[in-house]
This record gives sequence, C-alpha cells and structure tokens, in this order.
Amino acid sequence: MKYNITIKDTNEMFTCDENQFVLAAMISARKGHISSGCFGGGCGACRVKVLTGTYEVVKPMSRAHVGPQEQANGTVLMCCVHPRSDMTVTPLRTSEQIHGHAIVQYLIDVADIKKQFE
Ligand code: FES
Repeated sequence: MKYNITIKDTNEMFTCDENQFVLAAMISARKGHISSGCFGGGCGACRVKVLTGTYEVVKPMSRAHVGPQEQANGTVLMCCVHPRSDMTVTPLRTSEQIHGHAIVQYLIDVADIKKQFE
C-alpha cells in the first residue's frame, strides 16, 4: 500500500510504500527539502516532526538526535520510519544545520559584495 507524504513547509508531496523508508521515498521522488546523511539513524540530518498521520519506527534512532520525550511527541528520523497512513511532516533543523546555513549565506553575501568592486 502506498501513502502520500506532504512536507508542510514547501507543500511538496510524494508517495511512499508501506515497506519503504520515508527518506528513501522522498529522494526517489526527487523532492528534497529535508536533509539526508547517513541513512542509518545516526546523524540526525533527516529529523522531522510528524504533524499528522501514523508511522512505524523500524530502525533504531540515535538518542542524541531524538530523545524519548521528543519521540513520544512525534519527532522522528525519516530514514528510520515506514508510513502507516498519509503523513504531513515539517523539518526540524539541528543547530549545526542552522549554523551551516548561516555560514553558506555569509559566503554568498561576501561573494556578492566582492563582485561589486570588480
Ligand atoms: S540520514 Fe542520518 S539520521 Fe537519517
């Protein structure tokens, strides 16, 4: 059985088989606003909050990235879950990802300023 997965922030939608990891389905569908990394539940790159729908955690998730209370409140690593209904998710960026994005934006800004003086 296939389910529809919606990424709330971008309204992107893709389908995911009940026996497929949600992150793998997203990548197969070439939708991409959720980061990916290890595909093994260890790096936390694919951390999301499930807003609607049900799922099954079928692979251990690193406790460094999803604590028991967070998991109880719907935070998951998309590389570790199979859908059990249509789902809506929103990405949860780690502080490292936010910091990394800020550095990339800074480098783009510097490059733009540099162009003005060339
Ligand atoms: S890709 Fe590393 S935890 Fe999901």
